[in-house]
Amino acid sequence: MNCFAVSEKTLKQAAQIILNGGLVAFPTETVYGLGADVFNAKALAKVFDVKKRPYFDPLIIHIAALETLEKITDLSILNKETRLKLFLLAEKLWPGPLSIILPKNKKIPDLATAGLATAAIRFPDNDTAQKLISLSSGAIAAPSANPFGGLSPTKAQHVWDGLGEKVDMILDGGSTRIGLESTVIDITGECIKILRPGGTPKEEIEKLVGAVQDASIVAGDNAGSLVSPGQLKSHYAPRTPLSVLSREDIINQPAKAGYAFLFFDGFTRDVWLKSWNPSEAAIIKVLSEDGQSLEAAYRLFEILHELDNYNFSGIFAQLAPSQGLGEAINDRLSRAAC
Ligand code: TXA
Ligand code: MG
Repeated sequence: MNCFAVSEKTLKQAAQIILNGGLVAFPTETVYGLGADVFNAKALAKVFDVKKRPYFDPLIIHIAALETLEKITDLSILNKETRLKLFLLAEKLWPGPLSIILPKNKKIPDLATAGLATAAIRFPDNDTAQKLISLSSGAIAAPSANPFGGLSPTKAQHVWDGLGEKVDMILDGGSTRIGLESTVIDITGECIKILRPGGTPKEEIEKLVGAVQDASIVAGDNAGSLVSPGQLKSHYAPRTPLSVLSREDIINQPAKAGYAFLFFDGFTRDVWLKSWNPSEAAIIKVLSEDGQSLEAAYRLFEILHELDNYNFSGIFAQLAPSQGLGEAINDRLSRAAC
């Protein structure tokens, strides 16, 4: 078994593995990442290989100090206004679940960014992640630690189930706090664009830098036309077929043998229970009894992982109200449904 609880000793071992070109899965506040030294192209190639991730899909680079930006980006390309926006976002929202697309410099191998001139940079709000980054080269490239296209891991056990011994070490830091990936934004253009909704709600970004554009439109299978490969239509998918339904539609959906029901809130489940015979449903789950989107986001992947362990014929899932983290929840549910 390659899974170890986080301690001073295991952190040092993990950092050494990264510095030697190996792969370490580690917790962040969002989901577990599959980390490699960003300056080591051979190690980066292993990340793609282990995840079966297509080379057109760039990795997020994780830092643990703002000064590291100088080592990996070229901010001189940005105009003054964009630089000010960056510093404001970094000051207020880092460390946190926000990845910012910035011009990369030559020290970053092209493999990390899939040949793009830009890189997604993130400063995670997790002690283990920060220590691991600081103890290694200061910048770790890490996609979510799951096979490509599947559900992101929110526990060390999920990483083990998906990647097993292909990872040199899994650092077990318990369940992740947010449970959903970071928001990815592009600030390099005229208007700030959200490429992937995530743990930082759009409203929080808008409070700082004004209106932002939602560019996370679900794209078809033509990866070449995507701004961010995370926009792939089918992504974050459980193995069990999943249908997304509005609140009204799930209330009208009869219980069905072999089908799981995943409600956003307990109130909707109670309305549904008045109409249908629950014993005919395989299982009934609720993301958040009192409809808190923070709690729902935190539990989404964990519950989908759990439901995937049974061989249900399908999952009926209720959409969240589309504000705050609800947008990220609905984004993941819609992609899981394709
Ligand atoms: O919360 C997270 O972001 C987690 C943890 C581990 O940090 N990481 C994660 O990484 O979700 P990954 O590789 O599963 O998703 C990275 C997303 C992908 O949608 C990728 O296409 C996008 O970021 N991305 C990375 N670099 C990009 C770039 N230069 N331009 C546009 N999109 C980029
Ligand atoms: Mg991922």
